[in-house]
Amino acid sequence: MSEQKRIGILTSGGDCAGLNPTIRAVVLRAVEHYGWEVMGIRQATHGLMKDPPDAVSLQPQQMDPLLTAGGTILGTTNKGNPFAFPMADGTVCDRSADIIAGYHQLGLDALIGIGGDGSMAILRQLAQQGNWNLVGIPKTIDNDVGVTEWSVGFDTAVSIATEAVERLQFTAASHSRVLILEVMGRDAGHIAISAGIAGGADIILIPEIPYALDNVCAKIKERQQQGRNHCLIVVAEAVRTETGTPLTYTDGLGECRLGGIGQYLSEQICGRHVAETRVTVLGHVQRGGMPSPTDRLIGSAFGVAAVDLIAEDHFDQIVTWQNRQVVSVPILDAIAHYRAVNTTGTLAKTARGLGIYLGD
Ligand code: F6P
Repeated sequence: MSEQKRIGILTSGGDCAGLNPTIRAVVLRAVEHYGWEVMGIRQATHGLMKDPPDAVSLQPQQMDPLLTAGGTILGTTNKGNPFAFPMADGTVCDRSADIIAGYHQLGLDALIGIGGDGSMAILRQLAQQGNWNLVGIPKTIDNDVGVTEWSVGFDTAVSIATEAVERLQFTAASHSRVLILEVMGRDAGHIAISAGIAGGADIILIPEIPYALDNVCAKIKERQQQGRNHCLIVVAEAVRTETGTPLTYTDGLGECRLGGIGQYLSEQICGRHVAETRVTVLGHVQRGGMPSPTDRLIGSAFGVAAVDLIAEDHFDQIVTWQNRQVVSVPILDAIAHYRAVNTTGTLAKTARGLGIYLGD
């Protein structure tokens, strides 16, 4: 048993399935094994910005429903960089000092930050500036955090996207249509290539590999000539037009968002009289619902390992999944190494080997 500690935990960035099992693991390990107190900080760093900080002591008995619960009981945000925080009057302000003060006001010995690469970069900067003891846990459906093979949330997102492809197969076949599924993933094509292979797509387009519309149409026609009159296309949201124009739109708050590649492909294919097309944009469905068993396992393993790092006074580290085990690496490494789809790696080879058109 180590000395009594009080640690904080927060979830930052877009939510995903698997966050609650991760929180559960942290609380069970810290409270029941080490006898520490865990303060759950609400709405990421926004909770620390408040005076008094918005945080609650988490008890093991509250954790029982969390293993199978989607989302995060702590709330989260992917808005409001503390170093350029948007104020009500339209100006931006550096609120880092308020957040740093929140950590010390809570009397924390360490903080576990669960987030993607953007959140990790911000939390690390706060930790350096404010003398915090920080341990990171990677989460993102995009699976683009460097140095970890798995981030919490990716497996569930892939399962949901795979199920969508499976469901679309039947309606595509019934109507002899080309059905296009646009999936999330930000700048990386991990969800698209994984769900595309697992769901039996014929064409998978990812931001990492340029494509030609002529070849997309040729693949559809090849299938038609074989008597296979339907076709499934999975496309990642950050794929651009054939000539490289990004497809984005401005939301009601004036923010630029990814979206529109599915519709673009549909118009191009239909416009060339190749086939009738329909588009499904899967959106936030990929982030919701029950965490998959794999995300429960990863989140649980990461949660336990993160608490053990604190017990060893081993900070500025992030837990990662490598070669079937959890190992910790400096947070800086995770921030420095972006993980795109390896265009000559196993999944790309598998897709090409199955005759899936990948764009090259
Ligand atoms: O990074 C996770 C992610 O779901 C991306 O795949 C997607 O582009 C983005 O977040 C959506 O963000 P928001 O929740 O702000 O719409």
